[in-house]
Amino acid sequence: DDKDFVKIVEVGPRDGLQNEKTIVPLDTKISLIEKLSTTGLRVIEAGSFVAPKWVPQMADSTSILSHLLRSPPPSPQPVTYPFLVPNLKGLESALPRTTPPPPQAGVSEISIFASASEGFSLKNLNCDIATSFERFQPVVKRALENNIKVRGYVSMVIACPYSGDTPPEKVVEVTKKLLEMGCYEVSLGDTTGVGNPYSIDVLMKALIEGGVPVEKLACHFHDTYGQAIVNCMVGLANGVRVFDSSVAGLGGCPYAKGATGNVATEDLVYFLHSVGMKTGVDLEKVSEVGAWISEAIGRKNNSKVGPALLAK
Ligand code: HMG
Ligand code: MG
Repeated sequence: DDKDFVKIVEVGPRDGLQNEKTIVPLDTKISLIEKLSTTGLRVIEAGSFVAPKWVPQMADSTSILSHLLRSPPPSPQPVTYPFLVPNLKGLESALPRTTPPPPQAGVSEISIFASASEGFSLKNLNCDIATSFERFQPVVKRALENNIKVRGYVSMVIACPYSGDTPPEKVVEVTKKLLEMGCYEVSLGDTTGVGNPYSIDVLMKALIEGGVPVEKLACHFHDTYGQAIVNCMVGLANGVRVFDSSVAGLGGCPYAKGATGNVATEDLVYFLHSVGMKTGVDLEKVSEVGAWISEAIGRKNNSKVGPALLAK
């Protein structure tokens, strides 16, 4: 693979919308995914099969999946649409269905999500880290048996509002467990955006020196304190070539107080292109999607680049 190519994982429809207070209509979610599909993005996280009592905003993920399978959005390149899955019940919703007829295909990729901090694991998954891994094991096994790729997330890689600073060794341990279990890639979540270039560099070096292949890592940085882009640069300098972002900087995690959106896709693409990397993403098109979704859900556009570019 081209070492100047960066894969962007668009998480707006999932991480971006999961925290919205008022339920975003299904049609708006589907339009968002369809519009994003035309921009050159190759991975668009489309929803999550989690308990609706916990995250009501994602309760229509089954309808989103059915729609994507029935009418795959037109796109200039193949697009993967992963869904988050916390347990076997969630996997059931992602697997191919034979009833009711006609038979329907399932997802091609899921993501499981672990935490590097005990406090957040309890808040987000209602169990400690060890128990979460016991629950992931059969999920990953069954997914792989069904030719479904599995991505892993680690949350709170720098610090956690419930447990304090996260030791880098803990992130290394959880990352390795996810890879050993069968995840093809692990995305490092600075869930509350408290990382800085120094702490991110220390973490990256701990992972690489700890034997984690950098090709298997992704950076998932929230922009709560405006540090996400500079933190992505540190990831890039350490060899990471996969970055998660959300259009218009949508988002936040319902179980991480004060967490705001991910780094904006527009800002990330602008930055990457400006330093000579290739993403395959059309910056102007993705900026238009950012402007559209901000307007559609009545939210401030948290990208700097999108509005600047469109104002020209
Ligand atoms: P629990 O309450 O311990 O689960 O929650 P339970 O097994 O006792 O079930 C409770 C109820 O939920 C039951 O329904 C189940 O059927 C139902 P009832 O009998 O009461 O009517 N249920 C489900 N329904 C649909 N789909 C399912 C499912 N599982 C159970 N899969 C559980 C445990 C894991 C389910 C819960 O804690 C949960 O859903 N957590 C998900 C929270 C979440 O989605 N967080 C946001 C995503 S993570 C994130 O944003 C971070 C990330 O972006 C990276 C970063 O930034 O760091 C990825
Ligand atoms: Mg996140």
